[in-house]
Amino acid sequence: MIRLGVNIDHVATLRQARGGVIPDPIEAALICQRAGADSIVAHLREDRRHIQDKDIILLKKKIKRFNLEMSINPGIVDIACSLKPYQATLVPEKRQELTTEGGLDVVLHEGKIKKVVDKLKKNNIVVSLFIDPERRQIDASRKSGCEFIELHTGRYADSKTVGKRKLHLQEIVEATKYAKKVGLRVNAGHGLNYQNVASIARIPGMEELNIGHSIVSYAVFVGLEEAIRQMVDLINS
Ligand code: PXP
Repeated sequence: MIRLGVNIDHVATLRQARGGVIPDPIEAALICQRAGADSIVAHLREDRRHIQDKDIILLKKKIKRFNLEMSINPGIVDIACSLKPYQATLVPEKRQELTTEGGLDVVLHEGKIKKVVDKLKKNNIVVSLFIDPERRQIDASRKSGCEFIELHTGRYADSKTVGKRKLHLQEIVEATKYAKKVGLRVNAGHGLNYQNVASIARIPGMEELNIGHSIVSYAVFVGLEEAIRQMVDLINS
């Protein structure tokens, strides 16, 4: 069985748009968990654009497997170490980006990342590194001492032609195989949706897929009809 991790950042984005309390990402997380999600992912960004500090405290309390997505910024690392989520996924973070754009450059920042991995592990947090499907990044990740890598599926998901999609799928297949061989456990995510997820879920050795935007987007349409019906009933009763 492949595990599903649901990223609920987009629920918090909608809440922040009005600066109020709805929709509540914790309520969303509990619904996801009840519906079969194996873990809940939330990214505490340095600019706090969606998920807030109080959210991660509640997620840690109420969710069985909370995966905190985070940068290696020392302030964020300190928060993670005192919170002790089940898992931490280290990602690169740029202020201007709309979403996490590429994988973490573990080759370039090997020393810094290893220190953060050590610190998180000392706090009994399972550590995963979000990387591009490349051998050199896998080798550097293994040296860091992390248990998991999460392969960035963005290049595959964004492919505009069948040829490119095949090529990028093959990169992920090869990267999974290589990572397993060197002793790492493998997850994947980014840009996965109802149309493109099957090929990734079929990859031997894949453990968990982390998906956010497509699920929250689809939920709007799955839920809109009922939301309209209830409001029509309410204003006419
Ligand atoms: N995994 C990681 C490490 C991410 O940064 C993201 C995006 O926040 C996802 C998975 C989910 O990507 P998407 O929202 O495109 O499904």
